Amino acid sequence: MNLKGKTALVTGGAHRVGKILSLALAEAGVNVIIHYGSSESAARQTLAEVEQLGVRSWLVQADLAKVERLAEMVEVAWQCSPFQILVNNAAIFEPLSWNQVGVEDWQRHLNINLTAPFLLSQGFARKISGQEGRIINILDWRALRPVDDHLPYTISKAALAALTRSLAVALAPEITVNGIALGAVLPPSDGGDVHQAVQSVPAGRWAHAEEVGRALIFLLSGATYTTGEIFHVDGGRHLI
Ligand SMILES: NC(=O)c1ccc[n+]([C@@H]2O[C@H](COP(=O)([O-])OP(=O)(O)OC[C@H]3O[C@@H](n4cnc5c(N)ncnc54)[C@H](OP(=O)(O)O)[C@@H]3O)[C@@H](O)[C@H]2O)c1
Repeated sequence: MNLKGKTALVTGGAHRVGKILSLALAEAGVNVIIHYGSSESAARQTLAEVEQLGVRSWLVQADLAKVERLAEMVEVAWQCSPFQILVNNAAIFEPLSWNQVGVEDWQRHLNINLTAPFLLSQGFARKISGQEGRIINILDWRALRPVDDHLPYTISKAALAALTRSLAVALAPEITVNGIALGAVLPPSDGGDVHQAVQSVPAGRWAHAEEVGRALIFLLSGATYTTGEIFHVDGGRHLI
C-alpha cells in the first residue's frame, strides 16, 4: 500500500503508544483520525502535532466500553474521512490476579480490549467493501505467554491475537490483518518499577518510540504479502 494520502483511524491515539503510532503515520504521509476516550486535551495536542507534519487530522470521542455504540463511532469517523487503515490500540491494563477479578472487571477488559476491536473491524470492513485495507491490532508479548498477573488483560490480548488470525482469513484478500505485540515501550501510567520491568528483556532496555513506529509502517506498506502475523516488538521478551 502506498501510504501517502491514505487515512488511518487510531483508537486511543491521543497519548503514549497511541500518540507514537499517530505521529509515525503522519510522518509517512497518512491523515489521522485520532480516537480518544477521556483525554481530550492530549488528543488536541496530538492533532496539532500531526497537522504540523503536513497531513490532515480529526478527533473522534467514544467510550469503547459502550460496545453497542461502536457502529455509530465508525460512522462518525467515516464522516471525518473514509479511512483505509484501522489501528486498534486502545486498551485497559489492570493488575488483577485470578483471585481478585470479578465479573465486571472481566467483562470490562473483554469489551474494551477485544469486543471493541472486533466491532470496529467489522464496521470498517463493511465500509471499505472491496477496496484495499489494513487492520493492525496492538497486542502484548503476554498475548502468547501464560502469566499470572493482569489476568483479564492477558486473556483479552490472547483472544485479540486469535481474532487477528481469524479476521486475516475472513477479510482476505482485500484487507490484511496483523498484530504488533509490544514489550516494554512505556512504563504503565499507574506507576511501577521501570528498572525491574526490563530485567527480563533480552535486549536489556526499553523500546525506542521510532522502533514501534517503524514496525507499524513496515506492516502497512512493506509486508504486503503478510497477513495474520503477530510481529513482536519486545526485545525478545516473549522468548524467555
Ligand atoms: N506501554 C507499553 O509499554 C505497552 C506494552 C505492551 C503492550 N502495550 C499495548 O499498547 C497499547 C497502548 O498502551 P499504552 O501504554 O499507551 O496504554 P495507556 O497509557 O493505558 O492508554 C490506553 C489508551 O486506551 C484508551 N482507552 C482505554 N479505555 C478506553 C475506553 N473505555 N474508551 C476509549 N478509550 C479508552 C485511552 O484513551 P483516553 O485516555 O482518551 O481515555 C488511552 O489512549 C495497548 O493496547 C497496550 O496493551 C503497551
